[in-house]
Parts: sequence; C-alpha cells; structure tokens
Amino acid sequence: MTWNRYGATPQDGDLVQLVGLRHKHFLITLKTGGEFQTHRGVIKHDDLIGKPWGSQVFSHNGSPFFILQPSFSDLLKYTPRATQIMYPKDIGFILLSMGIGVGSTVLEAGTGSGSLTAAFANAVGDEGKVFSYDVKEATQKIAIKNLEKLGLAQRVSFKVRDIEEGFDESNVDAVFLDVPNPFDYLRQVRAAMKTGGFFGTLLPTYNQVATLINALRQADFGFIDVCEIFLRYFKAEPQRLRPTDRMVAHTGFLIFARPMIIDHSILEGAEIIAAGASADDDDDNQPPY
Ligand SMILES: C[S@@+](CC[C@H](N)C(=O)[O-])C[C@H]1O[C@@H](n2cnc3c(N)ncnc32)[C@H](O)[C@@H]1O
Repeated sequence: MTWNRYGATPQDGDLVQLVGLRHKHFLITLKTGGEFQTHRGVIKHDDLIGKPWGSQVFSHNGSPFFILQPSFSDLLKYTPRATQIMYPKDIGFILLSMGIGVGSTVLEAGTGSGSLTAAFANAVGDEGKVFSYDVKEATQKIAIKNLEKLGLAQRVSFKVRDIEEGFDESNVDAVFLDVPNPFDYLRQVRAAMKTGGFFGTLLPTYNQVATLINALRQADFGFIDVCEIFLRYFKAEPQRLRPTDRMVAHTGFLIFARPMIIDHSILEGAEIIAAGASADDDDDNQPPY
C-alpha cells in the first residue's frame, strides 16, 4: 500500500481518491482484480489502474467518478480516529514555524490518532526520526495502523508512557505536545531537547494558554509566540464569489517557544524581556508575519 505522489498513473497498491456525484469522496487501495462497491454501483480496480490521474470512470450502472491523487491533507481527512486530531491548517504552520524538515529529529506526545505524527514523519524523510509517546496503548495502535497505511511507520518510534515519567531521548531538534496540560511537563521537555530548539503546543482555551506562558517563563523558555490560524473557504463561483456559509471557528491556539540558557545572575525580570527573549506588551511590537 503506497501513497503514489510522483507517478503519472495509479498502480496496483496505490491509495486513490474517487470523487463521485455531489463531491462524495472515497479513499481506496487499488488491487488487481479488486472491486469497490458504492451505493452508486461497482467499480473495477482494473478500470482505474494505469488510467491518467484526473480521468473519469463509470460504475457498472453508469455513475461517474473522477480518479484523483490524494494530497496529504486528503489522507489525513480519511484517517480513522480515536481522538481529536490536528487540522491541516495548524499542521502546515507548525512544520514551518518549528523548522521541521528532512533530517530533523522530532519528539511528540500524545500520539493520539497519529495525524500530526504522520505529518512529522512525512516531513523528516528517511534521514530524520520521530519519537511519539502516548499513555494509551489502544489509541497508539490505531495511529500505528494509520502510519503503516501511509508507508511512514518506519520513521517513527512509538512508545507507550505517561510523559510525566520523562522521555528517553536527548538533544532532539523539536518537541510538540498535544496534551491538555503541557505546562506540567516542561522539565521533561527541556531534558529531551537541545537548548535553543523548537517547542510547540496546541491548547483550546485562554486559561490553559495563560498557565502555559507563566510556566514557560519559569522554565527559561524565551521567544514565546501565541497565535491562532483562521481558514476561510470560498465558493469558487465567479458570478457569486463569496465565503462558504460555514467554517471551523476554533481548533486551538498555537504556542511556540525556545528553551534558552539564561544566566539569572546577569539577567532578571524586565531585563530578560529587554534582551528579546520574552515579548513585551508594546502594541507596536511587530508580530513575526
Ligand atoms: C488530542 S490527542 C492527540 C492528537 C494527535 N496530535 C493527532 O493529531 O492525532 C491527545 C493524546 O494525548 C494523550 N495523552 C494525554 N496525556 C498524556 C500524558 N501525560 N502522557 C502521554 N500521553 C498523554 C492522550 O492519550 C491522547 O491520545
């Protein structure tokens, strides 16, 4: 089973997106001789294998379907889930903001359904490594299956543990926590990552974010950024171009920070802020973008 990103045509074993009437989407794995049953009829896999991406095919009773190469975002949308998952709008910004790319070592908790794990594994390539912790074994098993389906599981070390007990790794480039109380684990996070590295987390409420900022300052994390990503889709109709009626109003706040080495015998309180390691509340302070 593979995610065929480069080939001009779908092949046996590839993940394929079929889009039928009224934009009904299906994700299937092609198998020579196989059949896909929908309420709009049966489609033979052999009719799809070797057809150019973007072609139209018809089920046995004449219903039309398009064959599309799934994007990474499409794959995440279909991911079976046991927990709330990370949304593509947040994942994209996390990857860029935390400098995660080919060769990076990334540590995360909790694994959850593996949506973010898959994005990390995809980004770090064969040269990088992802370490993913979750306290719930059953949940992590679902994530492992999801990553196996995408051909990415071999880039990840999955570990079942309450991160209160700490991590096995040290000097990793980036740590992301998607747990309700990241402020309780900053000591463990610092021990696992290189100083100056990238720390990130997502929290749904203001209260949690405020608690986290205090804890980050206590633990000598600097360059704290708090932001929220809004994504608004439009109806792609030139004659009545306008936003769609509904949107996802809130997923969570993203918080990023860097573990610094601060000599408290030299820098204290306001001086740490003045040194740039902590944002002040000046309205003229320019956001990064
Ligand atoms: C919201 S889910 C993570 C979703 C994941 N980022 C994704 O994209 O699919 C939160 C996960 O954190 C795990 N978790 C919560 N507290 C934990 C802890 N102290 N140690 C390890 N895992 C924890 C939960 O079991 C749950 O699976």
